[in-house]
Order: sequence, then structure tokens, then C-alpha cells
Amino acid sequence: MHTNVDQIADRIYRISTCIPEVAPGGFTFNQFLVDAEEPLLYHTGMRSLFPLVREAVERVMPVERLRWIAFAHVEADECGAVNDFLGAAPHAQVAHGALGCQLSLNDLCDRPPRPMADGDVLDLGGAGLQRRVVEVPTPHVPHNWESHVFFEQETATLFCGDLVSQLGDGPAVTDGDLVDAAIAAEDLFGQTSLGPAVPATYRRLADLGPRTLAVMHGSSYSGDCPALLRTLADVYEQRYGCSPAAAASSAAASPQPQTLPAHAIPVG
Ligand SMILES: [Fe+2]
Ligand SMILES: [Fe+2]
Repeated sequence: MHTNVDQIADRIYRISTCIPEVAPGGFTFNQFLVDAEEPLLYHTGMRSLFPLVREAVERVMPVERLRWIAFAHVEADECGAVNDFLGAAPHAQVAHGALGCQLSLNDLCDRPPRPMADGDVLDLGGAGLQRRVVEVPTPHVPHNWESHVFFEQETATLFCGDLVSQLGDGPAVTDGDLVDAAIAAEDLFGQTSLGPAVPATYRRLADLGPRTLAVMHGSSYSGDCPALLRTLADVYEQRYGCSPAAAASSAAASPQPQTLPAHAIPVG
């Protein structure tokens, strides 16, 4: 197994390990390292990947420099090695949405995490390498109540976790059409918690105006990101039945319909 490191935006690095057994053509597990005065690692990988990911981080900077660790939600591929990294980087702290801290991370993390509210900004550095990431909760999208994403404002990079996942070991970043590949992965894994939150969340993320999507599984995307996210919102409505009308009819049949997450607070 080999771990690649590629720069996908200004001082934002993609660390990628393809595991062939997971899916036909393999399946990549990607972490993202933001080089700033207070460096951020977004995703840790599974515990079993820790030696590879740590070594990959070291190709860019000493691991002890890590100040922030974040991940889309609480699953092994997103955060299995969180305590390994907290051990290796003595000044590092997990930053996550307040809900995830309350539900899991206050207990799971070896040091207390920093809870973030919708729209909170994490300042990663000063004048020379300024980076600011905005907290955007995405409950249940694509899965897990505590899901969230970070949006890095200077490069307009959206760390979108499992959204736009693709099979295979493609290029680090592409501007090619990823819609069919994202549908193929969804059809194989059925990873998304299908409901009205899905298209609403994709459209909210499109409204942020990202220029790069830092994708956890598959290639990152550098084309028209808002258009891709809005197309996928339509796909989830039309192909996977996440439209408000479908939600209303299932609500009529079910005493406890899934509710939309709160999307009232604008961020940008
Ligand atoms: Fe996940
Ligand atoms: Fe994942």
C-alpha cells in the first residue's frame, strides 16, 4: 500500500491511500493537511493507517506542529486515529461542531475538543499564511447526526467529507465530470441517509461558492463546484427520492418524519 501526497490548492495537501480490497478498482481514503501557522489535519484515517498518514504528514511538516484536527463525522475512516495524532502532536486539539462534541467527542478524545457553532470561524494563522475555516453543520448528510464540513475561505476549499465519493484511484484533483462516478459509488454503497436534508444541504454548500472540493474518497474537484453540488442535489431528489414531495408523502405514512436541519444562519 502506498500513500501519495499532492498539493490541491495553495498550501493544502491531499494525503491519499488506495485500498484495493474495498471496491472494484480500489477505494481511496484521503486526509487533507492545511499548512498554516496553526496547521489543520482534516481526517485522520483509520488507526491501521496511522503510520502511513503520519509519515505522509511528515513529508510536509513535522507532525508535532499540528494544531487542529478535524473530520466530517465519527467513523473509523474519518477519525479512527484521532488519539494517535493527539499523542503525536502535543498542542493539537480536535475542532468539531458542538453537537458532535456533546454526542461523542467529549468522551472519545484524549483531550477535550473545541466545540464550534454554525458559522464559527477557526483562525489558522496570522499575516503570512492566513487561513480561516468556517464551520457548517450538515446533520445526517451524507450520514451521521454529527456530520459537518469546513469551508476554507481564502482558497474557497470545501472539505466536504464523503460527499461526491468515487470508486477507483483517480488523479488527486480533476475538473472532469464526477456526477456519474458519484452516482456509481452511491449505488454500490448506499452511503447517504436519504431524506429532505440531502438536497437542501448540497444547495447550501453550493451557495458558499467553493472553488475546490476536497473529497474524502476519490479525486478532489476543481471545476464548477456549485454546479456539481446543485446537479447532485437534483440527482438526490429525482433518482433517490429526496424531494420535499417524497418527504411529505412519507411523512403522511410515518408518525415521525425526518426533519430538516437548521439552515437559517448564513456563512460565507
Ligand atoms: Fe462516512
Ligand atoms: Fe469516509
